[in-house]
Amino acid sequence: MYEKYWQQMGEKTTVVIPGWKFVSYFSDKRKLCWFLEPEFASSIIRLHKLVGNAVTENRHIVVGTGSTQLFQAVLYALCPPNASEPIDVLCAAPFYSSYPLITEFLKSGLYKWGGDAHKFRLNKPYIELVTSPNNPDGLSRQAVVNQDQGILIHDLAYYWPQYTPISYTADYDIMLFTVSKTTGHAGTRLGWALVKDEEIAKKMTEFIMLSTIGVSKESQLRAAKILKVVSDTHEYHAKHDFKECDSFFEHSYDLMAKRWKQLRNAVNQNKMFSLPHFPSAKCKFSGNTFASQPAFAWLKCEGKIDDCESFLREHKVLTRSGKHFGDSTKYVRISVLPRDEEFQQFTDRLSSITLMPPIVISGPEDRAACARPRPTLLNSGDSPRTCSKIGELPGDTCSAREYFPRAMSLQA
Ligand SMILES: Cc1ncc(COP(=O)(O)O)c(C=O)c1O
Repeated sequence: MYEKYWQQMGEKTTVVIPGWKFVSYFSDKRKLCWFLEPEFASSIIRLHKLVGNAVTENRHIVVGTGSTQLFQAVLYALCPPNASEPIDVLCAAPFYSSYPLITEFLKSGLYKWGGDAHKFRLNKPYIELVTSPNNPDGLSRQAVVNQDQGILIHDLAYYWPQYTPISYTADYDIMLFTVSKTTGHAGTRLGWALVKDEEIAKKMTEFIMLSTIGVSKESQLRAAKILKVVSDTHEYHAKHDFKECDSFFEHSYDLMAKRWKQLRNAVNQNKMFSLPHFPSAKCKFSGNTFASQPAFAWLKCEGKIDDCESFLREHKVLTRSGKHFGDSTKYVRISVLPRDEEFQQFTDRLSSITLMPPIVISGPEDRAACARPRPTLLNSGDSPRTCSKIGELPGDTCSAREYFPRAMSLQA
């Protein structure tokens, strides 16, 4: 979805890097995070100040290869090295499906996946992830366990004004952000953490030093330029009455609003599916009052359809089952950020399902029988290649881990 906007921006975001640049591992040896490029740091601070979504004063910025690396760095930093048992890492379900995978894949002795935070009853140390707005359901969240021995990590990847009203300035101890959700540049693989405690920031830096000896400076320079252009487009708009080019968040907000309207229209045609409802709030950044319009749709199959993913697959819509997010198979997650043509095909197909007589599915045989005549209705010359893109490939801002290797998602 974001690609088109950046194409329209033409040369404004082009970065030229001569061969002699970035020969060193270091960006600034005097700084706590010595591989953080000063230009990237200042573009992050400028953007947060402009949007008002997070406090940057008295915070250490730690850069990572995506917020995926920062998540691992923060777990390493928060766990005492000599604890008698691994600390539980929790998140309220439905949670981002990569959290359990990332937490478990190295079989760390420091931490382990503890599952749904709603079910945590033990009186011992834990780390709770608070993802707000949440992936997959888009809801704004707060911590749920609320015990003395807990440490919170706020994953604010989607706390940007195209997705949700900026109603407060986040002031948490550990906040994670990523370029992939801010501007759509998932391939740049850059994230940043705003960290209050110096020792935690130091240990996160140590983790990144041990795992990758820093973070690509070319990527940081490119991301710095993109974030700078985002801020410039807004400041230009604020100062001038005419439009030289669309401001980034305004443009993306309009697109998301249009897509959610289109999606809700498709869903509202019958009683087969439902979507979450979001309360309206005033956005301090834009001044608009609106309800969240998340990057993902958390779609529920109503009635007797228990396996929503299989049901939609039969209708040539590939999605990701709720079971990967610690929830029921009645739910699926669908990206709202693919290219225009793919999103259009997706909503067309969803609406087409409503044209069919009510279907009662009780088992695999029934489902197969019901499914057989349908492709004619939904085929209409659409290629399966496009259909698979909707839910399965790392389109736009969807992380590759979630979409690529089937084997990985099977472990979730
Ligand atoms: C909530 C959340 N956090 C983190 C990430 C990972 O971001 P990155 O691409 O920076 O690794 C994602 C990606 O989908 C996400 O949804």
